[in-house]
Amino acid sequence: EPVTDLSGKCVIVTAGPTREPMDPVRFLTNRSSGKMGYALAEAARDAGAEVVLISGPVSLETPYGVRRVDVGTADEMLDAVLRDLPRADVVIKAAAVADYRPAQVADYKIKKSGEEMVVRLERTPDIAEEVGRRKQSHQLLVGFAAETDHVETYAQDKLKRKNMDLIVANDVTQPGAGFEGDTNIVTVYDRDGEVLRLPKLSKREVARRLIGLIGERLHAR
Ligand code: PMT
Repeated sequence: EPVTDLSGKCVIVTAGPTREPMDPVRFLTNRSSGKMGYALAEAARDAGAEVVLISGPVSLETPYGVRRVDVGTADEMLDAVLRDLPRADVVIKAAAVADYRPAQVADYKIKKSGEEMVVRLERTPDIAEEVGRRKQSHQLLVGFAAETDHVETYAQDKLKRKNMDLIVANDVTQPGAGFEGDTNIVTVYDRDGEVLRLPKLSKREVARRLIGLIGERLHAR
């Protein structure tokens, strides 16, 4: 197997969930453990890249030799990504960014009152879309898509809307794929269709294969 060489390249990886506060003690989040993103950071490092790992709150150790930037909210993740974007050759968006956040953040702990409570949500910024808008011609943007149905159609929609070069779709209804576990089952698409379909593999192995593909694409430019 050819060894991917990414020396001299800067790779930004986003990983984990975001955490959107409602009051000082409560927040909205999701099941992302960060494992997929951290495995990608390690694989990119092993290929010789300089790696910036922009991470939501997870309980994983920082991979050796990787610069980790901790963030909480989608807004903070956007700022962190944009700060390093000018230097990046590759941006891999494995984070599960909240699509909505509480529209109001209370300064004090919200007290219980009636039998029901309504929380109004508003959209968060779409980080991948913003990166897609600012992308320079030498930069490669790789997104993920966590889908439960119509996987290929929805993944292709996201790829085009967010101006991505590659999108990694995981069907999160399949056992052994998606959030939390140590394995994943992914299919990769570009604008022309399917480019790689992998069986169930450890996230570490999935990451190695994805970095291999990204290396090929980068060197073909
Ligand atoms: O962390 P693990 O437990 O290992 O799980 C891995 C994973 C399932 C989280 C990962 O493999 C994955 O699929 N990550 C993307 C999950 C997701 O949010 O997918 P999406 O289809 O909602 O978003 C599509 C793309 O847009 C993603 O690249 C996402 O990072 C990006 N996005 C989404 C919303 C938003 N506001 N900003 C974004 O940048």
